[in-house]
Amino acid sequence: MKAIILVGGEGTRLRPLTLHRLKTMVPMAGRPFMEYQLHLLKTHGVREVVLSICHMPGLIRRAFGTGSRYGMKFHYAAETTPLGTAGAIKNAEKFADVSREPVVVLNGDVLTDINLTQMLAQHRRRRARVSIALTLVSDPSAYGLVKQDAQHRILSFVEKPSSDEGQSPWVNAGVYLFDPGAFAHIPAGKPYSAERGLFPDLLAKGERVWGFTNRDYWMDIGTIDRYWQAHMDILEERMFLLPTGKVWKRNRRIRLGQTCTLHTSAHLSPGTVIGDRCRIEREARLGELLVLGNRVRVGAQAVLERSVIWDDVTIGEGARLNGCVVASGSTIGRFAHIRPGTVLGEKSVVPDYSRI
Ligand code: GDD
Ligand code: MG
Repeated sequence: MKAIILVGGEGTRLRPLTLHRLKTMVPMAGRPFMEYQLHLLKTHGVREVVLSICHMPGLIRRAFGTGSRYGMKFHYAAETTPLGTAGAIKNAEKFADVSREPVVVLNGDVLTDINLTQMLAQHRRRRARVSIALTLVSDPSAYGLVKQDAQHRILSFVEKPSSDEGQSPWVNAGVYLFDPGAFAHIPAGKPYSAERGLFPDLLAKGERVWGFTNRDYWMDIGTIDRYWQAHMDILEERMFLLPTGKVWKRNRRIRLGQTCTLHTSAHLSPGTVIGDRCRIEREARLGELLVLGNRVRVGAQAVLERSVIWDDVTIGEGARLNGCVVASGSTIGRFAHIRPGTVLGEKSVVPDYSRI
């Protein structure tokens, strides 16, 4: 089975983190986010992936290459102007060799450990044209809301419903199986949305569209809140962690990269992932649920918790960070306090003693 990953969006809701990189490239617990999706696909036997790209095409090709590094083969289906989700799937068709078997399609920002093998079995059993993975959320207004019958055949699909439409909490998880015949329903070379065009259209034509309801871990990481929450879920073991570094000898829930320097008086807590070549100074306290990228320096007596720190960040003596995201190359001054919900873009500089 082959896969198409839609990674052409601009990721505007994740700014400033996506000003200089694509959503699929943002670090997730120390690894580029897409590696989580590649791992899922490999687990279910997918080795060939079409990356459907538009925004920053050169950057993504350089970052991920041919796929050989992952034991996979990548194709790049590039759009000169955004074709929308269904238009992008159609544009990827030529690489996906869709004549023989169903193709997995993933939105490029969903973190999940869904069982694709079971989904495929149901897809075949139901002889579906398209299967849509469905997940439960409390508020469906940011997602595609479906109605289904008792056998999970989908009856209606409403993208971003207004609150009064929110009768059913099952929403589109952005994971699909497309039967070869589904591609014929998408016009070539023009913008077309899967959610607002193709799915309602297939339903109107009486095509077989099935829901795959599941309660596996699922998160769309496309907003800052959810990006941060996905880290907390990984660190609290609600979702698998792709290994980085090594398990620390003193605690299984602390992972440490290569050649880090930890002062003997520094304190580390469970649910911590530290990259390579970090330096943690005297009496620094790394509280629970923390990710440090590579080459992060944490000054003496700094206190950090529930935060996501990217590469090459310097945190001054006595600084306090709680519930924030700090992108690469930033500097946090001495005794600065960074409060929950703060997001600092790349190369931010926070002066000494400031409160933000
Ligand atoms: N190649 C390409 N071209 N990719 C695109 C385009 C395009 O024109 N437009 C969007 N994408 C990619 C984005 O990069 C992203 O990975 C994916 O398609 C979905 O776009 P989002 O912008 O993240 O959509 P959303 O989160 O608001 O809603 C979608 O996902 C929800 C689940 O997370 C919809 O599919 C909802 O129905 C769904 O519930
Ligand atoms: Mg999204």
